[in-house]
Amino acid sequence: MQTVPFNFNAGKNLEILSKTAFLTTYHMGKTNVMVTAWGGLGVMWKMPVFVAMIRKSRYSYSLIEKTHEFTVTFPYADLSKAAEICGHYSGRDINKLEKSGLSTRAARKINTPVLDVPGMHLECTVIYARPMSAEKLDPAIQELWYDRQSNDYHVFFVAQIVDSYILP
Ligand SMILES: Cc1cc2nc3c(=O)[nH]c(=O)nc-3n(C[C@H](O)[C@H](O)[C@H](O)COP(=O)(O)O)c2cc1C
Repeated sequence: MQTVPFNFNAGKNLEILSKTAFLTTYHMGKTNVMVTAWGGLGVMWKMPVFVAMIRKSRYSYSLIEKTHEFTVTFPYADLSKAAEICGHYSGRDINKLEKSGLSTRAARKINTPVLDVPGMHLECTVIYARPMSAEKLDPAIQELWYDRQSNDYHVFFVAQIVDSYILP
């Protein structure tokens, strides 16, 4: 394991994020993994942060609401089969770790584990959460991504990155 600053390999990691990164949650003995391709890496309140965008309908959303933490993995190996499962099934219905063959290892600073895969990993604790407001949204984005009826907008979780490292 190589400890690195949160912005190490930032260009590469954002490129990976735009295709497929993984967001892991944990609550009362159960670990869940979802695919995420939207988010932000930056600095807020003088802290390194990852901003996750999670729809309220996701099981992951309900777990973050309970624990206020998650881990993020930018994989440096082909995990496309696992991504198929983690990005299309809900942890409400299946155990995605079992189904995808992914395994986890303990994080260093938080209760939520990280995926035990080659890549860069962030341990994150939520410091602010904000549901999107349709009122302020560009109409073109509203049209493309959201259905007013279902009200399934993203929630922005701003999380402090409390540890970051690379697993070989
Ligand atoms: C490439 C890709 C990117 C995705 N990005 C996001 C995202 O950023 N936010 C989100 O809420 N859902 C995203 N999803 C959808 C979730 O991964 C998917 O709904 C998943 O089944 C949710 O799992 P859960 O219910 O166990 O949380 C993405 C799916 C794919 C395939």
